[in-house]
Amino acid sequence: MRIVLVGPPGAGKGTQAQYIAADLSIPAISTGDLFRFNVSQMTPLGIEAKKYMDAGNLVPDEVTIGMVRDRLAQPDAADGFLLDGFPRNTAQAKVLDEILAEHGTKLDAVLELEVPAKEIIQRLSGRRQCRAHGHVCHVFFDRPKVEGICDECGSELYQRDDDREETVKHRLDVFKEQTEPLIGYYSEQGILVVIDALGRVPEVTERAKTALKAFT
Ligand code: AP5
Ligand code: ZN
Repeated sequence: MRIVLVGPPGAGKGTQAQYIAADLSIPAISTGDLFRFNVSQMTPLGIEAKKYMDAGNLVPDEVTIGMVRDRLAQPDAADGFLLDGFPRNTAQAKVLDEILAEHGTKLDAVLELEVPAKEIIQRLSGRRQCRAHGHVCHVFFDRPKVEGICDECGSELYQRDDDREETVKHRLDVFKEQTEPLIGYYSEQGILVVIDALGRVPEVTERAKTALKAFT
C-alpha cells in the first residue's frame, strides 16, 4: 500500500507510523527524521534545513522534494510505503502525484490523525527522542525505565529544539495555514480517512488499521 499520514505536530504520526508500517510490511518514511539525520551529520542539506526547522517553518519545497524523490526511488519503497510528514502543502502533494505517476502508481489512502490543540501541547512538551535512532517516548505518557535513557537502544534522550512552547504554537499555525488545505485536496480524490487519535497508543493503532482496511 502507498499511504500518507497527515496530522498536526505531535498528533502521534511518528509513533503510529512504526506500528502501521510494520503491520503492512512497508517502510515508514519520515521527512522530519530524514532532516534530523542530515542535521546530525551536518550535511549541506541538514545545515540548510536546520534554519527553518528551529523556527518551526517548512523547509523550502525544492530541498524537501528532491530528498523525497531520492528516498522513494530506493528499492524498499517500490512496493509500498507510509509517508509521515510529507506532503505538507498542496504543491508537495501535486509533485508526489507526479512522482508516483512516473512510477506508474498512485496513493491508496491518506490517513488523518485528529487531536485537539490542548493535547498536542501536552504531548510535545513531554516528548523525548533518542539521539542514535530517533526513538520517541514521553516523560508522562510513555515513561522511559531509566530517566534520560532510551528504552529501545540505551542511547541518550533529548528534547527537540522545535518542541519549545513558542515554536510549537508557530508550528500549529503553519499546519493550519499550509497543511490543512491538503485535507480537502485528498478528500476530493476519495482517498481520505480520518480517525480520532486520542486514547492509548495501541487503541489508536487498531483504529488506523481498521480504517485502512477499506482501501486495500
Ligand atoms: P516533523 O518531524 O514531521 O514534525 P511534526 O509534523 O511537527 O510532527 P512531530 O514529529 O512533532 O509529531 P508526530 O505527529 O510525529 O508525533 P509523535 O509520534 O512524535 O517535522 C519537523 C520539521 O521538519 C518541520 O517543522 C519542518 O521544518 C521540517 N519538515 C518536515 N517535513 C517537511 C515537509 N514535508 N516540508 C517542509 N518541511 C518539512 O508523538 C508526540 C509525543 O506524543 C511523543 O512523546 C509520543 O510519545 C506521545 N504520544 C504519541 N501518541 C500518543 C497517545 N496516543 N497518547 C499519549 N501520548 C502519545
Ligand atoms: Zn533509541
